[in-house]
Amino acid sequence: MVAGGMRGITAMLYETSLLDAEEGIRFRGRAIPELREKLPKARGGEEPLPEGIMWLMLTGEIPSEAQVRTLSAELAARAEVPKAVFDALDALPKNAHPMTQLSVALMAMQPESKFAKAYQDGAHKTTFWEHAFEDSMDIIARLPAVCAAIYRRTFKDGTLVAADASLDWAANFAHMMGHDSEAVKELMRLYMTIHVDHEGGNVSAHATHLVGSALSDPYLSLVAGLNGLAGPLHGLANQEVLKWLNETREKVGDNATKEELTEFVWATLKSGRVVPGYGHGVLRKTDPRYTCQREFALKHLPDDPMFKLVGKLFEVVPGVLTETGKVKNPWPNVDAHSGVLLQYYGITEANFYTVLFGASRAIGVLSQLTLSRGSGYPIERPKSVTSQWIEEKFGKVEA
Ligand SMILES: CC(C)(COP(=O)(O)OP(=O)(O)OC[C@H]1O[C@@H](n2cnc3c(N)ncnc32)[C@H](O)[C@@H]1OP(=O)(O)O)[C@@H](O)C(=O)NCCC(=O)NCCS
Repeated sequence: MVAGGMRGITAMLYETSLLDAEEGIRFRGRAIPELREKLPKARGGEEPLPEGIMWLMLTGEIPSEAQVRTLSAELAARAEVPKAVFDALDALPKNAHPMTQLSVALMAMQPESKFAKAYQDGAHKTTFWEHAFEDSMDIIARLPAVCAAIYRRTFKDGTLVAADASLDWAANFAHMMGHDSEAVKELMRLYMTIHVDHEGGNVSAHATHLVGSALSDPYLSLVAGLNGLAGPLHGLANQEVLKWLNETREKVGDNATKEELTEFVWATLKSGRVVPGYGHGVLRKTDPRYTCQREFALKHLPDDPMFKLVGKLFEVVPGVLTETGKVKNPWPNVDAHSGVLLQYYGITEANFYTVLFGASRAIGVLSQLTLSRGSGYPIERPKSVTSQWIEEKFGKVEA
């Protein structure tokens, strides 16, 4: 465990979701298909509103339509972004990765932290959760405008689209990016709902949780998590998947045989790279978040060549990864599918995909951060050892 990235160590309390290796993620005990059915939807829409899963994670209860609409309105009321954020973004080189921009933008907002101010003013520790909640609400409320600004300054002409307070959180997000079709809004609702949380041990959740345990405020804590999400083995994999799919298409074309695809997958492995979108630290089956995105694609874009390619790769990649003899989970994860849906609706800028993941993940990790402050969770301080200590205790270990 000490040499293997702490796999399998049960080491923290994390209430908002729990991951089962075979069944996948459950949010407060409820699986994705159940939530897709039971969480409130937008009028005329079929996908759940992310405000609903946020409510569920914070309270343990499925909200009513009225409760979700109240939460949407509350987020819209808090959505104004301070000017310092735009100044900070403008000071960055235009080619700064969108995740770097997100990190900087949130840091530019940190001076407004109500948690940090309350702590400095001597707040009693039993009230910490209230200040963490206030900051979390402010951050989540502002994320659509912040992320949309990053999108439009990096990939479009830099003009910003004004918020529409009558829309739900995810629909307004799509609107501010400049994507206004109902179909994109539905995709954003689904996307923002399924990426929120994946129990506590993944890099983004754990980093947020760890930094928060030092009573760093929610801005500082979330940025720690997002910087972890920006790693290619974690959240950046969604960007890598689209690039790899494009590369696959370029090399073998749209009508590749299984043999040609198999050869291409082997070529990826032999070049010393991973196959992005496959494998997992905990899951041992196909990720239900992959499956629900596939269902969405079957309904909305069944003939898209990229979607067909994803389906064909599903028939090939697990066999190849199994044949390597070392990959513990050869099945696809959430990232294997998300980019294909986004590109279909014109969001083709792969480097932006992790920002979308991050906006959703913020909802999960900040909900847990609020709960952790409420439960008085202590500062984390696990034990480490040196390899010399291991040798002294157990003798020399052969590599
Ligand atoms: C997610 C991931 C980091 C989990 O890592 P892990 O828990 O160490 O996975 P395993 O225990 O199965 O790894 C054992 C070996 O298989 C390799 N492996 C795992 N998944 C692989 C993949 N998709 N492609 C190629 N090799 C892979 C690992 O790199 C490791 O090789 P090594 O012993 O030479 O270092 C890994 O599966 C991966 O890199 N996947 C691709 C990136 C990705 O999709 N990330 C998003 C995750 S949601």
